[in-house]
Amino acid sequence: MTNAETKATLSFSDGSPSIDFPIYKGTVGPEVIDIRKLYGATGKFTYDPGFMSTAACNSSITYIDGDKGELLYRGYPIEQLAVNCDFLETCYLLLNGELPTAEEKVTFDATVTKHTMVHEQMQFFFRGFRRDAHPMAVLVGTVGALSSFYHDSLDITDPHHREVSAIRLIAKLPTLVAMAYKYNVGQPFVYPRNDLSYSANFMHMMFSTPCEEYKASDVLVRALDRILILHADHEQNASTSTVRLAGSSGANPFACIAAGIACLWGPAHGGANEAALNMLKEIGSVDNIPEFVRQVKDKNSTVKLMGFGHRVYKNYDPRAKLMRETCYEVLAELGLENDPLFKLAMALEKVALEDEYFVSRKLYPNVDFYSGIVQSALGIPVSLFTGIFAMARTVGWIAQWNEMISDPEQKIGRPRQLFIGSPTRDVVEIESRTPASK
Ligand code: SDX
Repeated sequence: MTNAETKATLSFSDGSPSIDFPIYKGTVGPEVIDIRKLYGATGKFTYDPGFMSTAACNSSITYIDGDKGELLYRGYPIEQLAVNCDFLETCYLLLNGELPTAEEKVTFDATVTKHTMVHEQMQFFFRGFRRDAHPMAVLVGTVGALSSFYHDSLDITDPHHREVSAIRLIAKLPTLVAMAYKYNVGQPFVYPRNDLSYSANFMHMMFSTPCEEYKASDVLVRALDRILILHADHEQNASTSTVRLAGSSGANPFACIAAGIACLWGPAHGGANEAALNMLKEIGSVDNIPEFVRQVKDKNSTVKLMGFGHRVYKNYDPRAKLMRETCYEVLAELGLENDPLFKLAMALEKVALEDEYFVSRKLYPNVDFYSGIVQSALGIPVSLFTGIFAMARTVGWIAQWNEMISDPEQKIGRPRQLFIGSPTRDVVEIESRTPASK
């Protein structure tokens, strides 16, 4: 980053001396005002709940232009990556900053493949869960448990240890997500196979059984691979910020990823794909759309249009466009062009994009609106949708974690607050206490 030509001057109406702050320019996107000396100079904090106007770090990994609906991974537009690359190429790019050569890709793919098995002890963690436990609860537990296995790579200041942890996480998430599914449906766990691609291996671990071979069509495997590419990273979203904050204390990387999974689970974040599909099922038919939209607009109702809106995108989420295209391809491949949920989703999208309430609030479909329909068509159960999101986002989380750990400016994250509670007061003995006024 470079110093911008201008600076920011803060002046006070009470006559306190004004203060200048440097402004930095990045490669592209909003400039930032460096306020790090504000508290020391004024005894005042900034106030920005939800971090609507706060850059928490500098990063070279992912850039989003919310107004243009642009998403770049290391400078490459998501539209080009989704068409020209596969997920492991995208993982290499996010981790290393450049796309792999043909030779580098062979080596990287082989390295990931060789780490897809989990320790044989891992299977026993599943037995503690109810069979109907939500897969995200299982993933928080089992990915967190991975932090107890790898004592050969605990020095996070060692780049090689960080690389080994990254490879292990990228390789083992599909195995754990598939195990969570098999545990839920009461089928035996299926081991990964080294002769299959990353996404074909996941479909194998999900849908094959000891009784018969399972071969996913290339179209379905490619569709899953594209879903993973679209979800791989997304700047400083809530779960990535969770991983960065957890990692800033020097915590174990596997435990930090478990924290990211916990945050992603929320319906306002990654849990929206599960919520969006359940919303479509609840609406049921195109005839019910007007009543549903009325409820969404009713300030007294808590009904939201799941899969719509975004903190950054105030235009169409570029991933939603690609996800809708993938929908067409998969449904056509499966002869489900007339899938009622897909028809309903497109009708709802059309209504919302023409309705002043949504237009004025710049509410457009986001990546979660169509991803549930695609995943359903792939045979993935609704409760596992966010688990697939976590599987994809693991590379983004670990790339951002790695960037933070290797940043010389890195410090433990420790935000402050505006205190609005009780001023100092004395404890009185219990006999003299009176009930607090409600
Ligand atoms: C992801 O950050 C990321 O990058 C996340 C993500 C990633 O890849 O990591 O892109 C993945 O999380 C996508 C978002 C998935 N979430 C949903 O689809 C859930 C539904 N969306 C909303 O919860 C909401 O849009 C958020 C949380 C996504 C964004 O919320 P903001 O930016 O805080 O916006 P807001 O809540 O301040 O809303 C502004 C206005 C409000 O109305 P008014 O008070 O101005 O009258 O828009 C309304 C909101 O009520 N609004 C919605 C709405 N989203 C916002 N109204 C109806 N339906 C919605 N979905």
